[in-house]
Amino acid sequence: MELGQEVVERCRQLATHTEEAGWIRRTFLSEPMHRVHADLRAWMEQAGMSVHIDAVGNLRGYYGGVTADVPKLIVGSHLDTVPRAGAFDGILGVVLGVALVKSLGGRRMGFGIEVVGFSEEEGVRFGFPFIGSRALVGSLDDALLARRDAAGASIADAIRAFGLNPAAICEARVTGATLGYLEFHIEQGPVLESFDLPLGVVTSIAGQSRLEVRFEGKANHAGTTPMHLRRDALAGASEWIGAVEREAAAVPSLVATVGKIEAQPGAGNVIPGSVRMSLDVRHTNDEVRVEAVSRLLDSAQQIAARRGLVASSDLRLDQAAVAMDPQMVEMLGCAVQAAGYADHRMHSGAGHDAMVMAERMPAAMLFLRSPGGISHHPDEAVLESDVAAALAVSLKFVDQLERAHG
Ligand code: GLV
Ligand code: MN
Ligand code: MN
Repeated sequence: MELGQEVVERCRQLATHTEEAGWIRRTFLSEPMHRVHADLRAWMEQAGMSVHIDAVGNLRGYYGGVTADVPKLIVGSHLDTVPRAGAFDGILGVVLGVALVKSLGGRRMGFGIEVVGFSEEEGVRFGFPFIGSRALVGSLDDALLARRDAAGASIADAIRAFGLNPAAICEARVTGATLGYLEFHIEQGPVLESFDLPLGVVTSIAGQSRLEVRFEGKANHAGTTPMHLRRDALAGASEWIGAVEREAAAVPSLVATVGKIEAQPGAGNVIPGSVRMSLDVRHTNDEVRVEAVSRLLDSAQQIAARRGLVASSDLRLDQAAVAMDPQMVEMLGCAVQAAGYADHRMHSGAGHDAMVMAERMPAAMLFLRSPGGISHHPDEAVLESDVAAALAVSLKFVDQLERAHG
């Protein structure tokens, strides 16, 4: 079987490991993650790698170099998904990393390759993303470990329930000499397809703010309370959601999303007394993003005051925009050309583990075209020929690295 086809089939096989029958859903340290680990471990071992699972549930396969003390290149992406996800976001980068090692056919180089399947990137379970990569760069602190999911379990509880030891998190940190971090990922947008290009070299990743925003009013009888005497939290929230959309539409390249909303007490004949929502705001310019968040919070206060509600919010994530390493970007662009493809440079609107890894080491990303520009949706896809192209680029990249460091 062609390796491009094998990679796609492996991603589809891993997609069958899900928390929700009929859909793909695999949140941080959920039960199906054990089966994902088992399949990937087998493929990694067949490719000649030694495998372990670190204390936050990252799956880590190491393919050694010519000697035990060579530096390493880290290749990775994430194993978790959003609810009702597609089969390629994240996991494609891990399966491609294993395919790269398999393609080496036992050849040893002046550096090792560690393929990492990060346990958490999406932020679904704890409202906070990048738990896996944060463990590698050493930025998971006690306050984060105390965060609770919807069922009341802390991150530390989730780690124990999965059979791991939260006290060993510091052992997950990257140690020893590292050449850099390389991530393959579907583009998750329409740009490459619009240019009829299979691949794109990422130059920067947009910053993101994630917040929880709440409106408090007064629950009351839906039949007896006249309209002018209501304090309807959901009506206030919906007015504000309209303001969020208008703000984002008015600022070039700003995107803002309310993706989750919960109204209480949640009955058709009760005026909603309280609402809790998510807010996700992104831009490549951090100042533009932070100013937009501040205007949106002001607007929540104004709407709440006019309607007799109380608005409040918590900042869950303030992730600055991150530039990829210029030298590694050049090497990757050169590898793309050497493999016979156009070296198209682009920025990423989606967040990636590369943002976090870039805090500790040079990082670069290669995007693969997303058919229809669709992602975070079951229709998400990738072309086998584009996977083969990415694999060819990865081999050229490794050759260049070998010439530079071998
Ligand atoms: C990750 O998928 C993100 O939300 O950017
Ligand atoms: Mn995603
Ligand atoms: Mn992703």
